[in-house]
Amino acid sequence: MMHTPQSNRKNEHLSLATKFWREGSNPQVGATFDDIRWIPGPLQDISLDEVQPSVQLLSHDFDWPFYIEAMTGGSESTKRVNGDLASTAAVTNIAMAVGSQSVALKDPNQADSFEVVRKNNPNGFLIANLGADHPIENVRAAVNMIDANAIELHTNVGQELTMAEGDRSFYWLDNLATIIAKSPVPVIIKEVGFGMGPDLLKQLDALHPAAINIGGGNGTSFAQIEQARDRKNENPLDLSSFGLSTVESLLAAEKAGIETPIIATGGIQSAKDVTTALMLGASAVSSAGHFLDTLMRDGRAGLQSEIELWQQQLPLYMTLLGAKKPNDLREAKRLYSADLKNSMQQF
Ligand SMILES: Cc1cc2nc3c(=O)[nH]c(=O)nc-3n(C[C@H](O)[C@H](O)[C@H](O)COP(=O)(O)O)c2cc1C
Repeated sequence: MMHTPQSNRKNEHLSLATKFWREGSNPQVGATFDDIRWIPGPLQDISLDEVQPSVQLLSHDFDWPFYIEAMTGGSESTKRVNGDLASTAAVTNIAMAVGSQSVALKDPNQADSFEVVRKNNPNGFLIANLGADHPIENVRAAVNMIDANAIELHTNVGQELTMAEGDRSFYWLDNLATIIAKSPVPVIIKEVGFGMGPDLLKQLDALHPAAINIGGGNGTSFAQIEQARDRKNENPLDLSSFGLSTVESLLAAEKAGIETPIIATGGIQSAKDVTTALMLGASAVSSAGHFLDTLMRDGRAGLQSEIELWQQQLPLYMTLLGAKKPNDLREAKRLYSADLKNSMQQF
């Protein structure tokens, strides 16, 4: 496989994202999962046997309400990572998204770094990924490339503007409407770490996608990653004041009465975070950086153990909170920190 500027970028994203997770240096903005505590509820007639963590979403029944979020593909080393993620998704029976396939549409030599996920996970639920500017033909091609069951379209204005080589014009809304109408598979509209406020959420809700992934802060930060890549200091944007955390975006969606199912990504590191996100109204939860860091540190077996740990813990947390189904968690009483309560009043 050739080294193109795009495949070098994919390698740098991977190594920098892993480095920042390992150092624990992802910038933290606004409310975190620790700003929410679970209030003990009344005694419930419930047993662990009755708890069903499965969810219906994207016209599919998922055994688990969490999955591996979009990260990579587009180079030789990212092909290995995609292959490992896909094999682990297959054995743990969770869904998985690939990183943006745009690179493989431009250079078909890179397609095998995405195709490997279907090869390693022939029966799993796989999610394609492209930017929101791609025409419907590209959506069809990306879906075909991995025989995808759904597609994510990322709306990453913040990330593009921090990249020296990134886009500078964003006429996306009509295109998103067209894709939602014509896509062969359910469409998820997704942020990549800056979160979503009420106005954006309402605008996207009106398009009726299959789901909205609020992609909030406090996990992987593309502002941090692109700043580290910008060695010549060509594009020194300071985005530390821009964006909402995952928790804040979820509360914004709840307050705005968004009807489209919400997926929560951004800084999810444990089954406890998954539980809190479901409590705040998420229909499903996904994690990128933490799973990647675990894979790089502990290999495929380590990632498998981590996912299995979540699969053991989540039903126990649901039992603790009297929730037989993930949606029941929305009824669980919670305590918000003073800072978070203050932010909520401003949505
Ligand atoms: C190495 C890396 C590459 C990523 N590439 C993409 C991408 O191509 N498309 C996309 O929609 N999101 C991409 N993301 C964003 C993630 O899907 C996710 O929204 C974000 O990392 C926040 O989740 P986290 O805090 O669990 O990492 C990438 C994340 C990482 C870590």
